[in-house]
Amino acid sequence: MASDATIVEVPRPPAGRLPFLLLLARVVSNPVASWGRDFYSEPIVVYDDFGLQTVFVMDPELIQAILLDDVESFSKSPIYDRVLGEGGGEGVLIAEGEHWRWQRRLLAPLFRAEEVAAYVPAFVSACGPVLQRWAKSEEGAPQAIHADMAAATLQVLEDRVLGADLAAEDHRRVAAAGTAFLQPTVWRVAYASLRLPAWMPHPGSSRMARASRDLRDVAARALSARRQNGGEGGDLLGRLVTERDPTTGAVLPDDLIIDNVVTFLLAGHETTAQALTWTLYLLALFPDWQQEAREEIWRVAGDRLIDREHIQQLPLVEAIFSEAMRLYPPAPSLMRRATTHIELGGHAIKPGAIIIIPIYVVHRHERLWSEPLRFDPARFFAEAKSGRHRYAYMPFGGGPRSCIGNTFAMLEGKAILSTLLVRARFTLPEAEVPEPLARITLRPKAGLKLNVTILR
Ligand code: HEM
Repeated sequence: MASDATIVEVPRPPAGRLPFLLLLARVVSNPVASWGRDFYSEPIVVYDDFGLQTVFVMDPELIQAILLDDVESFSKSPIYDRVLGEGGGEGVLIAEGEHWRWQRRLLAPLFRAEEVAAYVPAFVSACGPVLQRWAKSEEGAPQAIHADMAAATLQVLEDRVLGADLAAEDHRRVAAAGTAFLQPTVWRVAYASLRLPAWMPHPGSSRMARASRDLRDVAARALSARRQNGGEGGDLLGRLVTERDPTTGAVLPDDLIIDNVVTFLLAGHETTAQALTWTLYLLALFPDWQQEAREEIWRVAGDRLIDREHIQQLPLVEAIFSEAMRLYPPAPSLMRRATTHIELGGHAIKPGAIIIIPIYVVHRHERLWSEPLRFDPARFFAEAKSGRHRYAYMPFGGGPRSCIGNTFAMLEGKAILSTLLVRARFTLPEAEVPEPLARITLRPKAGLKLNVTILR
């Protein structure tokens, strides 16, 4: 296999630990560039400045304590509602306690493996417009892969969440709103870390408000159109309208349906698009792996459209997608707030402390991974995975608040990758080294261009 399969480390971590205020300034420009070299070797790093405790946790045992074993001592509030609440309201990503539990119980059946397996044709057909566009371009022409993957995953969500092709103007608004909404969220993280009041304006706050209005407006109109058509539909919106809580028989009120539709658009769009973008980057960088994956897909599906049975038989494609999410986790960090006094890795943590789990660092941590910067999908073959701590690899988080869309995203990723790889070859333009930029999701700072050749 590719003998020199190591990625370039960009941005390079600061050599020493940054003072707290400089760290926050870096958070605003790019959180990835704020995590010092010591984060990649230490289990935990604690900042305790001006009475504000901020704790970075990299050790899998400690992460497990936060997300699973001692989950009651850590809350998402008030960080997630500050950062994402303007769009996602009180939806399942943000709600807490009984209000969250009720929604999660109601939504869980919609994301079960047998439900999402039926979405495979939608995943495959979302590749159609992208492939057609590439086919019309000159052979080997550079393509804006980040934009193409965002278009494909948005089409999936329109189809599977809203159940309708949006009017061109709404489509454009939703496509623009995701990025416009997420871009300024770093300010909210920095303000929350400084415990500044939530009402304080920051650069991009009016853009964020507009983006959230756009998303909520599109969701509200889709809901009202659905009610007029009798509410039914196999998509998530139809199910949100008709589903009842299994124990209480209650239905979701309209506001909460809109909160959740916007949540799915925000949580499910960019994450999957970035996962695909980074995977194609790595496959262009390491063409031997690209060719091996293509051969696996050929062996299983030949020239037929990928279907749900094929997807179960593509261990290499799955391993490649998983390894890409190790090096470039689409959700690069998680945040919590300590609700009580607690001991963590020998440190006394105070109530109110901000807890950051930098998944990006955990996935490149030198105590957890051999040659962390080496792209090696074999790490995700069954035998290699078996001894690994559950919380050493966590692109979808962990514990009760782990990603509800995990199975959806894995199937979507594998279906789209397989469909694209058998029809197109990806090569890297000279000097293309995308820089990961964290904006809730991890995106290439200046996008990603790859040369694409359609295979006839
Ligand atoms: C590669 C794609 C994806 C990645 C890497 C990802 C990652 C994550 C992570 C790390 C969390 C946990 C957040 C936390 O604990 O603070 C999460 C939660 C969540 N994700 Fe995803 N996600 C992806 C795709 C999706 C999709 C496709 C959907 C829905 C269509 C979705 C919906 C959600 C929701 C609703 C939650 C909140 C769950 C709860 O709190 O109960 N995600 N996701």
